[in-house]
Amino acid sequence: MEDNQSVHGEWSGRLAFILAATGSAVGLGNIWKFPYVTGENGGGAFVLLYLLCIVLIGIPVLMAEILIGRRGRQTPHRSIGALANESGAGVHWSWFGLMGVACSFLLLSFYVVIAGWAVAYVVFAVTGQFSGESADNIGGMFNNFIGDWKVLMGWSTLVTVLTTYIVARGVSKGLEKAVMFMMPGLGAILLILVGYALSQGEFMHGFSFLFQPDFSKLNFDSAIVALGHAFFTLSLASGVMIAYGSYLPRNVSIAKTSLIIAVTDTAVALVAGMAIFPIVFQYALDPSAGPGLIFVTLPIAFGQMPLGTIFGALFFIMLSFAAFTSAISLLEPSAALIIEKFSLTRGKAAIFAGGLIWLASIPHALSFNELAFETPFGPDYVGVFGIVDYLTANILLPLGGLCIALFVGWKIKDEFSRRELDDVADAHFNLWRLTLRFIAPVLIIVVFLNGLGFLKFTPGAPPEEEPALEQPLEPAEEQVAEAG
Ligand code: TRP
Repeated sequence: MEDNQSVHGEWSGRLAFILAATGSAVGLGNIWKFPYVTGENGGGAFVLLYLLCIVLIGIPVLMAEILIGRRGRQTPHRSIGALANESGAGVHWSWFGLMGVACSFLLLSFYVVIAGWAVAYVVFAVTGQFSGESADNIGGMFNNFIGDWKVLMGWSTLVTVLTTYIVARGVSKGLEKAVMFMMPGLGAILLILVGYALSQGEFMHGFSFLFQPDFSKLNFDSAIVALGHAFFTLSLASGVMIAYGSYLPRNVSIAKTSLIIAVTDTAVALVAGMAIFPIVFQYALDPSAGPGLIFVTLPIAFGQMPLGTIFGALFFIMLSFAAFTSAISLLEPSAALIIEKFSLTRGKAAIFAGGLIWLASIPHALSFNELAFETPFGPDYVGVFGIVDYLTANILLPLGGLCIALFVGWKIKDEFSRRELDDVADAHFNLWRLTLRFIAPVLIIVVFLNGLGFLKFTPGAPPEEEPALEQPLEPAEEQVAEAG
């Protein structure tokens, strides 16, 4: 079975796969979400937790998913089913493959909306709408923008149509072509922006915010967010990496490419943080501003700085590229599933899947205006968007990851996984399997039970609400003092 090619196509080679998988991993998660969750969870200590999750859970699970895909060579749930079958495990394992596809669908339904913000902001930046504006005006501009669901739907429709078009063109003509120019473009722009940040006075302040852990700001909610974000940012547990792995040529090393993908993804998040936080501090803005962080704070800075129109445009172009290469990866599992289930052509299947995504994105566009309601998950998680964001990233992805770790760690016959990882030394192979069998599952379960309130263990941090009453002004004061 392992020498077959997937019916859906194949990458032209290692570089194409690395760019596509890295393109999937590097997305809004790195540039939009990572900075604001880090800002809200206190900086360095959160970054440390997140890095631990990447190393102990993310990388082993990433390897496991690519392995499932390459050996199975079909859509995620069929690949899992085929492996379960040949290893003598139960057929019900393929269910979590379907859950993954459902998850990628849900994620994409809000992803296109936020990606639409990024594209809209390219236009705002290019037309000079930030230049010389006060912080209040720019905040107002953002609120007006997200306040009109029809405008949001307009931009997200554009994203959905383009994403559908790329997926319809297929693995090598669509996906591969898109990532081949977007990923290098993204890298180049990121370097320019960091170069700018480096030349600014507050670089070290941003740097120490990211890398100096303050453990008093941590609690177990941060652990769930860090865990969920590790899955989100590596595009795990949603069928995406299984689908991409199924187009991977036989002679490419799964271990090495997984490392490259994870390291690049992490590096982009950290470097984006280093480009963003110095600017946030330089203009005395609030690092814990939530989902609006880069859409409000950065334009303020772009409006003040020399050549801000150019830097602003570059930044949002980079964000749009990152979002597109991830969005196409999120549509791919649904499209491949539809091709398989209904024997449609790729073009029709992509249009069908894209149409469903378009419908499903409407409640998300409404979440910031007509249908904005508070959810139990906190102020960032508004409306349907908030519920789906929280459920997918913090619950479904870790659960899916748990299933994959258990399945590949315990159920797949060694000879099969060994053959896919044939370039790995025995010691490393054993370490990898040990991680999948014990370390990752235990960590995921502990973080989970805690999040659901079964274990009450919050190291270093007092229970949430109380201290806020005693020292309500502290964060603001601190920030002004530090920024000044
Ligand atoms: N990893 C992407 C990001 O950081 C988002 C993404 C793409 C994703 N495919 C995924 C998230 C699959 C979860 C699952 O923005």
